[in-house]
Amino acid sequence: MATPTAEPLHQPLAEGSVGNIGLSGGDRPVLAAIVDERDRQRNCIELIASKNFVSPAVLEARGSILTNKYAEGYPQRRYYGGCVNGDVTEDLAIERLNQLFGSTYTNVRPHSGSQAAILALLTPGNTILSVGLDLKAGGHLAHRAAVNLSGRWFSVVSYGMDPESHLIDMDQVAELARTHRPKLLIAGGSAYPRTLDFARFRQIADDTGAVLIVDMAHLAGLVAGDAYPSPIPFADVVTSTTHEKLREPRGGFAKKSNSATFPGLQSGRLMHVIAAKAVAFGETLHPSSRTCSRAVVGYCRVLAQALTDSGLAMTTGGMESHLALVDLRPLGVTGNIAEKALEPVGITLIKNAMPNDPEKPMVTSGIRVGSAAGTSSGFGVDEYRQIAAPMLDTPRALRGGTARSRARTNWWASARPRRSLSAALLTAMIREPVRI
Ligand SMILES: Cc1ncc(COP(=O)(O)O)c(C=O)c1O
Repeated sequence: MATPTAEPLHQPLAEGSVGNIGLSGGDRPVLAAIVDERDRQRNCIELIASKNFVSPAVLEARGSILTNKYAEGYPQRRYYGGCVNGDVTEDLAIERLNQLFGSTYTNVRPHSGSQAAILALLTPGNTILSVGLDLKAGGHLAHRAAVNLSGRWFSVVSYGMDPESHLIDMDQVAELARTHRPKLLIAGGSAYPRTLDFARFRQIADDTGAVLIVDMAHLAGLVAGDAYPSPIPFADVVTSTTHEKLREPRGGFAKKSNSATFPGLQSGRLMHVIAAKAVAFGETLHPSSRTCSRAVVGYCRVLAQALTDSGLAMTTGGMESHLALVDLRPLGVTGNIAEKALEPVGITLIKNAMPNDPEKPMVTSGIRVGSAAGTSSGFGVDEYRQIAAPMLDTPRALRGGTARSRARTNWWASARPRRSLSAALLTAMIREPVRI
């Protein structure tokens, strides 16, 4: 069967239009940016905890002619004709996702699961209780930022961490819920390395009459692979992005949000993205995916251990997921400097505030590292151990006034998953001066 992307379906455009000759023969600036991005993704070690790589099959579905199809409404209940193949892919996506998480009801259409759920459950003026937004609390802007619809339309109260242990202070969550009687209690964020106490969140929601949403954006793949406890038995609604741990295209899903998603939030949906989600959910159902999820957590532990063996500290004293928060103060560099210094040597990560961080949010005293993308691209225990050295040496070199990358040739050369790196490119990258 011909690949779905190979056959142009349209009549030629007007003579001379670059649309007739495809990207490679026509739109050079866009093509160049895509090629550069491909090279960046190939040649960098991705340690941003929310990133991952999709499979060729997902990419193929995402780039397929389903992009030509717009489909308002839900499968078998569309607002117009021609949706039969869209129905097939959307039904498959729903079926597979339910199988993956043992859920009974799923909406795979939202581009943003949290927006769909918030719209489904609240009316403007209601109160949300969610984890604080500042980076040290680990919350996500979709749950509370003043500039986000959550913060603009709703009254938001936030819980935080215990000042000593830096774990979520569940007693504070309970007290705030009793005081403010939120309509919605949200568990989940983007920088919490430990296990969330879903049972206690459930109990607090029950005691105070709140609806409990668990945002498992960072955790969905781990949950699917039994590498993290499932929130499904506890939450009223579970939302997630699909691109973080599930290796799917950018997008979301939410349990129980039909009318909020359509017609509340979106009209027609991106059918090629839904097809790509179906493919990715199918891949995640494969037994090897469970092994991979467990490996992600194990490898993050290896990396965190290598960093702490070198004198750095992890907040909360450890991690139980795919991410760790590392305090850089013993190195004498801030999070933003480390982030910028490491990018030219091929290590991409994100600065992160530490508990009681005296630095501004755009500076920070630490970094967040994660192991999902690296694991997808073939990193193992050896590689995660080896990354620690350049991660520490580059900022150290900066602190010592050396404005050049100290990334080690032998480390790069032995980096198993990036064998496609050309020798010339490798050399160029290693010699690249660090500019801050
Ligand atoms: C915890 C969490 N929730 C939600 C999102 C994304 O939210 P949305 O796509 O709804 O804007 C992210 C990041 O992508 C996240 O880390």
